[in-house]
Amino acid sequence: MPEVWAVDVPAEIARMAEHVARLTADETRRAARFHHDADRHHFVIGRSTRRTLLARRLDVDPATLVFVEGRHGKPQLGSHAGSAPRFNSSHSGRWVLHALAEVEVGVDVEEIRPDFARLDDFLWVLAPEERAVVQAATPALRAAALATVWVRKEAYVKALGEGLSRSLPDIAIVADEHGPALAYDHNPGKNETIWRFMDLEIDRAYKSCLAHAGPPLEVSVRTWPP
Ligand SMILES: CC(C)(COP(=O)(O)OP(=O)(O)OC[C@H]1O[C@@H](n2cnc3c(N)ncnc32)[C@H](O)[C@@H]1OP(=O)(O)O)[C@@H](O)C(=O)NCCC(=O)NCCS
Repeated sequence: MPEVWAVDVPAEIARMAEHVARLTADETRRAARFHHDADRHHFVIGRSTRRTLLARRLDVDPATLVFVEGRHGKPQLGSHAGSAPRFNSSHSGRWVLHALAEVEVGVDVEEIRPDFARLDDFLWVLAPEERAVVQAATPALRAAALATVWVRKEAYVKALGEGLSRSLPDIAIVADEHGPALAYDHNPGKNETIWRFMDLEIDRAYKSCLAHAGPPLEVSVRTWPP
């Protein structure tokens, strides 16, 4: 069953020493290079909790996990081949989300920012169908509508592992009474995978979405610590 873990970063700062102790030497060096404490906290807590959750799912020592990156930077497990779960992470504001599953996953979380309401700045990333949904929202709900559309799109390109190298206006994810679904992706390259989307309820000030491959699955949404 796919799991999504929500890590409340400010709540974890009190346990910073424990998180730092779980980093590799390379991660410790990277953590030291952040100029802003907030970025460093996200990095350290994100890496520590991800390692812990994956090791727990595999029932192995966290120190044995080796990470590698795909062509566009998507982290994957390079160790424990065969049994390795798929995973993906996202950061925004106070939250780090980790999605873990037996199938390919992408996850995105985004704070609903008031400037999202200045729609014109963001229209270029949307497909016409998505633009229509956001423009139909009342002004008070427009920022939330844009965040909803945006996290679905990001979850999808992150599941593919291609991130923003894919043209976003050429992808439409539209919701009907059964929930969000991929209407089309006109980017080059054949992709036979069926992707499922689940809007997640983490925090009323944020929107988040999980995309996973294959048949519909029940998703367990949990709050760190395990
Ligand atoms: C992946 C990407 C969409 C992240 O977007 P974001 O909203 O800024 O960041 P999020 O917090 O949601 O996600 C970041 C996490 O995604 C994961 N990630 C990185 N590259 C990824 C990729 N190609 N696919 C899926 N996940 C990726 C990482 O785990 C990262 O967190 P970490 O560095 O702490 O491990 C974006 O950075 C991207 O497209 N990268 C690919 C590189 C690229 O093609 N750049 C084109 C420049 S426009």
